[in-house]
Amino acid sequence: MNHKSITDEELLYAAKEARKGAYSPYSNISVGAALLTGDGKIYTGANIENASFTPTVCAERVAFFKAISEGEKNFDAIAIYGGKNGESATTIFTPCGVCRQVMSEFCDENFRIIVSDGTSIKCYPLSELFPHGFDKNSLGVII
Ligand code: THU
Repeated sequence: MNHKSITDEELLYAAKEARKGAYSPYSNISVGAALLTGDGKIYTGANIENASFTPTVCAERVAFFKAISEGEKNFDAIAIYGGKNGESATTIFTPCGVCRQVMSEFCDENFRIIVSDGTSIKCYPLSELFPHGFDKNSLGVII
């Protein structure tokens, strides 16, 4: 379900704006993400790369870690917008496996993932993009 005041289009626009903060000289791909909390706050992120490659973090995880580190615990949706540096999106960017695992730590199966190829918008529940994941329920941990 949609948050009362923020539409999917607005969240996607926030992701598009956040993309301007990307540091991606190696892949030449820039991605923006906008994470919507249960009470309507938006945390944004952009991908940050590194000459050593493996320290690279995706836009989605930057947004999540900003929010988590500021005490947020409830999340409704994330919008993701990416493409070649300096160009508009031409394909859908769905989150990578590591980001899906991070989402599964903090979100339930109804968490919505909003993506766009620049023309149309699609929305997937986390349960569809990350079924049968390994999470705190697998460990029987109550947090
Ligand atoms: N990337 C993201 O930030 N989010 C995604 O959903 C897919 C990939 C970044 C990581 C890397 O900096 C670049 O895009 C190419 O993989």
